[in-house]
Amino acid sequence: MTERTGPGLGDAVREAAATLAAAGVPSPRVDAELLAGHLLGVGPGRLRALMLGDTPAPEGYGELVAERARRTPLQHITGVAHFRYLDLAVGPGVFIPRPETESVVQLVLDWLKGADWLKDTDRMQAPARPKVVDLGTGSGAIAGSIAHEVPGAEVHAVEYSEFAHAWAAKNLAPLGVHLIRGDLRDALPEHNGTFDVVVSNPPYIPAEAVPNEPEVALHDPPEALYGGGADGMELPTAAAASAARLLVPGGYFVMEHAEVQSGWIAAMLERSGLWSAVTTHRDLNGKDRATSAVLAGPSAR
Ligand SMILES: C[S@@+](CC[C@H](N)C(=O)[O-])C[C@H]1O[C@@H](n2cnc3c(N)ncnc32)[C@H](O)[C@@H]1O
Repeated sequence: MTERTGPGLGDAVREAAATLAAAGVPSPRVDAELLAGHLLGVGPGRLRALMLGDTPAPEGYGELVAERARRTPLQHITGVAHFRYLDLAVGPGVFIPRPETESVVQLVLDWLKGADWLKDTDRMQAPARPKVVDLGTGSGAIAGSIAHEVPGAEVHAVEYSEFAHAWAAKNLAPLGVHLIRGDLRDALPEHNGTFDVVVSNPPYIPAEAVPNEPEVALHDPPEALYGGGADGMELPTAAAASAARLLVPGGYFVMEHAEVQSGWIAAMLERSGLWSAVTTHRDLNGKDRATSAVLAGPSAR
């Protein structure tokens, strides 16, 4: 019989969860398990089975737990963010994609499935090849998911930050997304009036509303958080203007935003006279976190 030198996996994970809870980590047990699973190269089911046996804690586990207790984001420690069907490479300099943004991708997919132009007889002869752009792509979560889940789509992505662009390039190259480094306010002028869908999760936090969680305040890049202006609405407003410039008439715009901004954004789109079917959408928690609209004018498809 071999003697175990360190603590067993089950005890180590329980201790780690207590350490993370004491540090204020919001989901201590889940994070303790994910860190152990990361080091052992196993998923949650297999990890829990190993915790019941006499598997020792993996080497380096204590260091990773201590790093998470210092409120380094879990995804920066593991180097991966899970988003819909993708495992995205992430780290310092890029916004960690959030689960609510998965619902924004779903809105795009639902619209593409039901879009009138897909039912158009001429288009039915040719392969449906929707043209989509993601403004402020960060890690490439939205653009990459659409490229992955809509075979044949022509997907473009725009990112301003040099650091985020490098992460996006890594994630999007294998998916065939056309990524450019540029400003969403004036990017892709050569594509004006040609996109079927413009999607964006722009920075939108008001200047004074510094997030409480250290993972966000200290690790998400400021240029990914603050939308500009006291109300955070400069970049969301610019994203809407670019969507009107880039879309084909009848094309679909969807943008994520803060719950409190939903009324203002819907009113802005209505007031411009450029949009029809302005619709606010709830996320899985029932919060108004996205708005969509269709560019007015006869469909060019
Ligand atoms: C809230 S993050 C969203 C990232 C990603 N789309 C997601 O949902 O995970 C906003 C992104 O917009 C980028 N960004 C900020 N200002 C920009 C601008 N003027 N033009 C293009 N991208 C910009 C930020 O660097 C950041 O990556």
